[in-house]
Amino acid sequence: MATTAIITGASSGIGMSFVKALLKESTCPDKIWIVARRLDRLEELAKLSDKLIPVKADLLKEEGIDTIKNKLNEEHPEVVLLVNCAGMGKKGDIADRPSKDISDAITLNCTALSVLTREVIPFMPEDSRIINVGSSAAYLPQPHFTVYAASKSYVVSFSRALARELRKKRIYVTVVCPGPVETEFNKLATDGASAEFTGFRKFVAADADKLAAASLKAARHKRVMFVYGLPNKALHVAAKLMPVGLYLKLFYR
Ligand SMILES: NC(=O)c1ccc[n+]([C@@H]2O[C@H](COP(=O)([O-])OP(=O)(O)OC[C@H]3O[C@@H](n4cnc5c(N)ncnc54)[C@H](OP(=O)(O)O)[C@@H]3O)[C@@H](O)[C@H]2O)c1
Repeated sequence: MATTAIITGASSGIGMSFVKALLKESTCPDKIWIVARRLDRLEELAKLSDKLIPVKADLLKEEGIDTIKNKLNEEHPEVVLLVNCAGMGKKGDIADRPSKDISDAITLNCTALSVLTREVIPFMPEDSRIINVGSSAAYLPQPHFTVYAASKSYVVSFSRALARELRKKRIYVTVVCPGPVETEFNKLATDGASAEFTGFRKFVAADADKLAAASLKAARHKRVMFVYGLPNKALHVAAKLMPVGLYLKLFYR
């Protein structure tokens, strides 16, 4: 039976880098379903290899999840890798953002990721992998990026618990937590105001291709939590040591 990978968020940034990194691996599955809303981008990417199958799906909508669910039920693929990379977040104070921004971030980052995972698991054989893309934003609450940070805390908690649940099925879950990465993410998060990161983030921003390759390796090694990059690792340790109240007082006066 043909082995298959499913990668969401494949039309840009980290998701697209996952596709390219996977194609380079000797263990690359026979097919890779590349999932996003922008079909033109997916079709352009699919020119790289005949393994790539564009799947247009808006994961904010039930029909989007159903597109993948139906394809699974029709084709019965052996899914050896699922990468849940689609995600978004909007910066700004909660009171200044439309409610839709709040519900969209929670729906895409938490609900769609969890529901899609649940739908794919029955098609996963032993020794398959799930990679969920979290964020360093998961470590601590973030005023002015409140919903996004909380949604990524969900992704980490969900993934760690799922990793335990799936151990007996020998399906391995890795949650990847990158710090800032140069993609379209920041432009969308700031409604186009700033394509680039500012402040210290500018200096620590990671390369999406390197991150994706390292994440695939971490998943191969069955790492449950993969914190990418030295500055990010330091932040992860600091976040564990510092009381949350003190951190909020110090950094958000
Ligand atoms: N960039 C960073 O600094 C950073 C840091 C830590 C974690 N992350 C996480 O990394 C992941 C990828 O982000 P990125 O940086 O690569 O950003 P990006 O370039 O904006 O990519 C986001 C991807 O998600 C897809 N997507 C968005 N809304 C969707 C929807 N409703 N249905 C289906 N697909 C949807 C987009 O495709 P379409 O628009 O074509 O649908 C795109 O492929 C996200 O989960 C993000 O939270 C990013």
